[in-house]
Amino acid sequence: MDELERLAYTAGLTVVGRAFQNLHSINPATYIGVGKAQEIRDLKQELVFDVVVFDNELSAAQLRNLEEIFDTNVLDRTALILDIFALHANTKEGALQVELAQYVYRLPRLTRRWTHLSRQAVGGVGLRGPGETQLESDRRDIRRRMTRLKQELEEVRKQRDLRRSRRRLRGLPVAAIVGYTNAGKSTLLNRLTDADVLVEDKLFATLDPTTRKVELPSGKEILFTDTVGFIQKLPTQLVAAFHATLEEVHEADILVHVVDIQDRNLLQKVDAVNDVLQEIDASDKPTIIALNKIDLIDPEVVLNEEKHPFAMQNNPVGELQRQYRHVIPISAEQGVGIEDLLVTLEEMLLEEMEDVDLVIPYKGSNLLDLWHKQGIIEREDYAQDGIHVHGKLPKRIKDMVQGNI
Ligand code: GTP
Repeated sequence: MDELERLAYTAGLTVVGRAFQNLHSINPATYIGVGKAQEIRDLKQELVFDVVVFDNELSAAQLRNLEEIFDTNVLDRTALILDIFALHANTKEGALQVELAQYVYRLPRLTRRWTHLSRQAVGGVGLRGPGETQLESDRRDIRRRMTRLKQELEEVRKQRDLRRSRRRLRGLPVAAIVGYTNAGKSTLLNRLTDADVLVEDKLFATLDPTTRKVELPSGKEILFTDTVGFIQKLPTQLVAAFHATLEEVHEADILVHVVDIQDRNLLQKVDAVNDVLQEIDASDKPTIIALNKIDLIDPEVVLNEEKHPFAMQNNPVGELQRQYRHVIPISAEQGVGIEDLLVTLEEMLLEEMEDVDLVIPYKGSNLLDLWHKQGIIEREDYAQDGIHVHGKLPKRIKDMVQGNI
């Protein structure tokens, strides 16, 4: 509920009250019990509100019934998130994705109450006939618009693919920064580069991915890309609508999973991120956990197991350290631990490399350059048939070099 309140705030709402109900089963007509709904309606006189937000997804019928009982607008969690996405979509691609997601969400929820024509007909005349017709044509319009949006997104995706494959040709490895919304992904990217990505203490400040080049301690380069924030209970169809954005993650060589160390629900949020990663088929990539915002806690207490054995019990950080090989405490804001993060990242990239023995013809010196930049050369012998090279390369560069000899 705290998170829902922050989402509401991010969308520009002020929260005046909260209500809870324990139920054995959900009421199909109104989600909560009718009595509870009336209780909330009665609070209106005292609290004066014009929208009620539910933390769960509501069906069309539930939305309609609740709106009637409350005589206010009703939003569910998904609609609220989509609203925030719409506020923060800055690029054409972002805007297209949000619009598509909004239609995916709205289509099954179109009710007579929502169509403009039936609103005019509220006097009672011909409510059924024209209302239903309008509804049908609204549905048709929406389907048509969705098809167009998908085509446009496909176009944008093709251009992005082209850009990506050019990037691949330059051979730079890609690290995707993932993490729950507000964990500090944009702050980290800004710290690593001078990208000037929007940082805000609001949820989903970033919707569109930003990619920047960063130099690693050895002098080699890597691309970092900041992605959309992940959140719990984001319906699968919506994840699909954001596919183009999430593709950056799917294509990455390595993931930097940013976690807010002072978050009480840290492990749940890590799980929520992992669920989305699984959905986009990116869960088995080498991952480094960046335990962010350590400036806000006493690192001794949380991280030093020897000194504080009891502090580690039930400690989510301990759990993360058991689950992940690489857990690096950082403060993106204050620039603490960034060097450690980059060193570890470089070691992990090295681990992923494969041993290679190749003979590169003398005219293929650009391939040798690439090898120097992106791999390790352990031995180089200049022979008559070309340069005999022994060393290590990331798999995809190895394939590229082999394919070009
Ligand atoms: P989304 O765009 O919502 O996904 O958020 P994000 O993960 O990109 O988070 P962002 O970088 O926008 O940071 C969220 C908030 O956390 C901002 O108020 C930052 O100033 C704050 N923050 C980020 N890193 C740190 C840190 O190391 N220490 C502290 N104290 N605050 C931080």
